[in-house]
Amino acid sequence: MKESDKYIGVFDSGIGGLTVVKSIIDDIPGENIIYFGDTAHVPYGTRSKQQITEYVMNDVRFLNTFNIKAIVIACNTADSAAKTEVEKNYPDIPIFGVVEPASEKAAHITKNNRIGVIATNATIRSKAYEKAIKKYNPDAEVFSVACPLLVPLVEEGRFKTDDPVISEVVEEYLTPLKEKEIDTLVLGCTHYPLLHDVISAFIGDKTEIISSSAAAAEHLKTELAELDLLNSGEKKPGKYFVSDNAEFFEQKANMFMGDSLDVKVEQVNIE
Ligand code: DGL
Repeated sequence: MKESDKYIGVFDSGIGGLTVVKSIIDDIPGENIIYFGDTAHVPYGTRSKQQITEYVMNDVRFLNTFNIKAIVIACNTADSAAKTEVEKNYPDIPIFGVVEPASEKAAHITKNNRIGVIATNATIRSKAYEKAIKKYNPDAEVFSVACPLLVPLVEEGRFKTDDPVISEVVEEYLTPLKEKEIDTLVLGCTHYPLLHDVISAFIGDKTEIISSSAAAAEHLKTELAELDLLNSGEKKPGKYFVSDNAEFFEQKANMFMGDSLDVKVEQVNIE
């Protein structure tokens, strides 16, 4: 088997990582993808760094049982809590995340050096975005807001622009960022691309919105090409695994991918 034909292992706390998969398929459709959603332990965003790291190490161990050429941490919360630990334990596998690519993009796009970040409690608490953005642009001021209500609302399908509930929640979370006159806003959670239109309607079109899912896929494509690992073949079906409730995952996949999964989702016990 050619190195480039091997799988890319992608994981998330649950279903949100499918927005990263969608972006990967849009950018590099020829890749063989294995996805694992840790639906038995979702959400990660409300948990401690130690607990998230424990779950993440199990997720990676499972993906590593396949013939993989790279790992994508398709979850901002997992990335900000445990990427260093994963890199330390798997020095021979290229590990890609979502925080670094989105931070680099935001740091370069901003004109007034005022960047907003919205994410889960754990991601904001880790300060991973602040650190990464300042690494690429030391003059940037980063304003962060944890938005714990957004993940459950998105999962309930409450992300349409004419839905007064999500509009009110978005307004409450984003008002402090609007007041700071940010010109760039990072969607630092894999569920948030679905909220793009609601967020844009509130924050206005002068603020550039950066999806960490899209930024991650762009970055992955560039890096795989550099490592000579890019698979430019035909579109592949992918394999999808979850640790609980495969049916729920199958039902909701369409919402996150804009398309239904063309394969069955398998439930596995990885502990
Ligand atoms: N997918 C997670 C992220 O990108 C959010 C969901 C969770 O809290 O587990 O941060």
